[in-house]
Amino acid sequence: MFRDITTLLKDPIGLRTTIDTITERYRPQKIDKVIGIESRGFIFAAPVAYTLGAGFVPIRKQGKLPAETISCDYQLEYGCDKIEIHADAINQGDRVLMIDDLIATGGTMEAAIKLVQEMGADIIECCFVIDLPNVGGSQRLRQQGHQLHSLCS
Ligand code: PRP
Ligand code: ADE
Repeated sequence: MFRDITTLLKDPIGLRTTIDTITERYRPQKIDKVIGIESRGFIFAAPVAYTLGAGFVPIRKQGKLPAETISCDYQLEYGCDKIEIHADAINQGDRVLMIDDLIATGGTMEAAIKLVQEMGADIIECCFVIDLPNVGGSQRLRQQGHQLHSLCS
């Protein structure tokens, strides 16, 4: 079943509450960069970065970023895909918050984590609006030692 976030986004209180809830969780954490994953992740990551006074960094699907990139392949339900980040987007030791709208298999966030760790960042947490726990991605990433948080499951 496709979990559609547009009904949340079009609701003024729903949108504001979602952004505020995420922002308040990370305000004490002194985040340097908020990373959003294309495309639905951008919707939440950019306003959170703005409100925290942090930078926003996009992770995009292959071939979309204009400067030098580093990339990571990941599995989809059928086939595979590639995500990329600008090679100069993160500084060694940056305190980074990763945001996406939803975690299902965890393949997308797992690839994003690999990219960002390769660049020497300190990942404070991976935050999602929705977790689909029955698909198992969040459990798998937690077993790998990653810190995850979701607003609902
Ligand atoms: C969706 C969603 C997550 C990912 C979750 O993105 O926004 O990024 O799938 O699935 P996973 O945990 O199984 O990897 P999608 O690739 O559909 O792109 P979109 O945001 O552009 O719709
Ligand atoms: N991305 C991956 N699985 C999804 C689902 N069930 N609903 C919405 N987006 C998704």
